Parts: sequence; structure tokens; C-alpha cells
Amino acid sequence: MRRLERTFELWPTCLRLSFGMNNVPAIKLLPRSGSVPRIWRREVAQILIPKDALARRVRALARQIQRDYQDRDLVMVAVMSGTLVFLADLIRHVTLPLRLDFIGVSSYKTRTRPGPLVFTKELGLDVRGRDVLIVDDILDTGQTLARVLQRLQRLGPRSLRTCVLLEKKARRVESVQADYVGFEIPDVFVVGYGLDYAERYRHLPFVGVLREALLRSGAAAASPRPVQPRKTG
Ligand code: IMP
Ligand code: MG
Repeated sequence: MRRLERTFELWPTCLRLSFGMNNVPAIKLLPRSGSVPRIWRREVAQILIPKDALARRVRALARQIQRDYQDRDLVMVAVMSGTLVFLADLIRHVTLPLRLDFIGVSSYKTRTRPGPLVFTKELGLDVRGRDVLIVDDILDTGQTLARVLQRLQRLGPRSLRTCVLLEKKARRVESVQADYVGFEIPDVFVVGYGLDYAERYRHLPFVGVLREALLRSGAAAASPRPVQPRKTG
């Protein structure tokens, strides 16, 4: 019954979706898919997760968090900056009292492969004895989440859990798992809904697959301005 409900909730993406372990929707790549708005067509190959599916899934995650953190002293720690859109949507569905803080970690810069990790912002709040939920955009190799977990564990929280919008399992090098996962996605480079490539595309309302050619050429990274859309067609 619950499975049916979930399928219905995610109807617009159900052609590319199956339910993986722990009932996390697993998104598949299709040869062709939902139409990318014309303005983004030269950069985004396809829409992987449309905005309605994101909205429904984020609401479902919020409901789960709401149930699990009743009577807890919840502090959400968001990893900057990829979580900005996800976090804003998620917290507006949580009606529990909660505190919010941010931690800055940087590894990607203008590349799509990880470099050394640097902490660019430390926590402001004291999380000792509190129930900390780390929020991140995507769990890929697991290096970021492993380092953030390690750092926050030292601060003595009562509990420490993790919530990610997306997870790619293919390139995992750390044995870290997230407690709450929005979608499992294939090993492709995605942008939008907060996720960037060279600090661009964070504002797209959907999660889309960046064109391979763009990644190979580094065009987006090199150009400070978006590729201009064609006037006709
Ligand atoms: P990890 O340390 O390899 O797990 O990588 C986590 C970070 O890499 C995320 O927080 C993102 O900033 C970035 N990342 C990994 N895959 C993607 C992607 O497909 N698109 C955009 N950013 C990504
Ligand atoms: Mg990030």
C-alpha cells in the first residue's frame, strides 16, 4: 500500500524510477526524457528529477524527520552551498522547533572530480548534547560527509545523523551511509536545485544532467556568462 502511494506521489518520474534499498527512489537514465527548457538545452542534456518530484520527495523526507525528532533538541547543520535550495524547502515543512547552522567545506572548485577538502566555515552554535542532523546536497565518494561527521562527532552531540538529497553509489570510497536519502541517482554529473558546476546552475528548479561535452571542455567553468540561447527554434 505504502509502495503504491509512493509510486503515485512520484508519478511524473515513475518511468525512470524504481525503489532501491530502504525504499529510496532510484532514478535511472533514459535515452530521452522530459523537455529541458530551451534556455538550458545547450548545457543540460536531460532533466533527471523534475521540480514536482523534488517537491514531493522533500516533503516526504520532512515528514520522516518530523516523526523521528519529536521531543528532541534538533540542530540542522547544512553543508554550504549546495544545500541552499533543498534546505530552504525541507525546513519549511518541519514544524518542530529547530536550530540551524552551516558548515563550509570545499573540494570541487571548477572540477567534477574531488580535490583536497578544506573547511571554509566552522559552526557557530554549540551542539554539545544536542541532536544534530547534517544536511548535504549529494553523497558521492563519501569523503565530504565522512570528514564532516568526524568533525562534528568531536563536538559531543547527543546524536548525529545525516540527510542528503541525492546519492550516487558508484564512486563511494568511504563506508559512510546517509540516514535520510532523497533519491539514488546514476553516476552522472548533475546540476540544479542547489547543485553547481563551477558555481553555476544552482538556481535551476530541477536536477538535470550536465552535457558531457561541457564537462570535457570545461566551457562552463571558463565562461563567466551563461551560453546564450538561440533566438529561434
Ligand atoms: P563527496 O565528498 O565525493 O561525497 O562529494 C560531495 C560533494 O561533491 C557534494 O557536496 C557536491 O558539492 C559535490 N558533487 C558530487 N557529485 C556532484 C554532482 O553530480 N554535481 C554537483 N556536485 C557534485
Ligand atoms: Mg556540496
